[in-house]
Amino acid sequence: MTRSAEDAAMKVGQMLETFCVNDRDRSKRWSRLVRAQARRVAILNAKRVLGFIWPGLRYRGQPEILAAYDRQWRKKKWEKYRMGSGLEGAPWVWRDRKLLLSNEAGAAVRLTYMDAALTSLRPRSVLEVGCGNGINLLLLAAAYPAVQFFGIEPTENGWSAAQRVVHEGRLPDVLKQFSPLAIVDEGAVSRIRFERGSAAKLPYREGSFDVVFTSLALEQMEAIRSQAMTEIVRVAKSYIVMLEPFCDVNSGGLRRRYVKAYDYFQGAISDLPRYGLEVISIEKDMPHKAWLGTALVVATKSDAAEHSA
Ligand SMILES: C[S@@+](CC[C@H](N)C(=O)[O-])C[C@H]1O[C@@H](n2cnc3c(N)ncnc32)[C@H](O)[C@@H]1O
Repeated sequence: MTRSAEDAAMKVGQMLETFCVNDRDRSKRWSRLVRAQARRVAILNAKRVLGFIWPGLRYRGQPEILAAYDRQWRKKKWEKYRMGSGLEGAPWVWRDRKLLLSNEAGAAVRLTYMDAALTSLRPRSVLEVGCGNGINLLLLAAAYPAVQFFGIEPTENGWSAAQRVVHEGRLPDVLKQFSPLAIVDEGAVSRIRFERGSAAKLPYREGSFDVVFTSLALEQMEAIRSQAMTEIVRVAKSYIVMLEPFCDVNSGGLRRRYVKAYDYFQGAISDLPRYGLEVISIEKDMPHKAWLGTALVVATKSDAAEHSA
């Protein structure tokens, strides 16, 4: 485990105390939710087999994914980030712990790991690809006002939610309470540059950003995986950080079946050199949904590594 991942794990360990499934009712609820997901996955995979007979039943491609996220970001208000008691949520696992975590608590966990990875790289400019409603960048910008942050997101509603905070020039109070990072200058959100666009064709010049990162965004880009990876590597100057469900952590059981059912990302960490990347660190020991593992990978461009050698 790298030093930065160790720090993140310690912070997250404290953060998750209240979310542990440590009584019979919550334990039962945890198991019931996993079984329900297993049933949904079995039905979807059966439909996939039928899709060979009726094409069209089969694939969840980019148009369907983007339409679904556009609806999700339209519905999601910042108020959702007000942290509850941890009694509700989806089943997660970490080491020997079973947890019930809301999507928002999950976002705080990922941001803690991402923060640790990013700060160890000391970037001056950072791009997030597939930034959704901008939650990661809004909180990172308020924590690191000296860094220039950029975000790109294809959905109108994701982009406009982020852009509204930029115009207001301050974080909504609920996000200040939610942030797992110390807020240094909330006004720094006004300097974030959010664009609308797809990872398939990034509107930036080569080597524009010290770091490019993705957080559960490549997971939605299986249909354009190769294009997106090539573009991400092109616009990065030095480092790429990916917190994604690499197939290395989803190789069997319900996790494997879930990835297939929802047409999720199937990239392997060992594939990254094909895109001109040299892997610096891999962190697999992190909390994740019971049916989808994630890994945090930090990589550098092979040519950047050669130049600095
Ligand atoms: C699970 S959400 C993650 C959002 C954000 N990264 C976070 O951590 O909260 C996946 C995001 O990927 C975006 N996405 C899907 N296809 C994309 C593409 N081709 N280019 C860029 N983003 C894409 C979706 O619109 C959605 O906002």
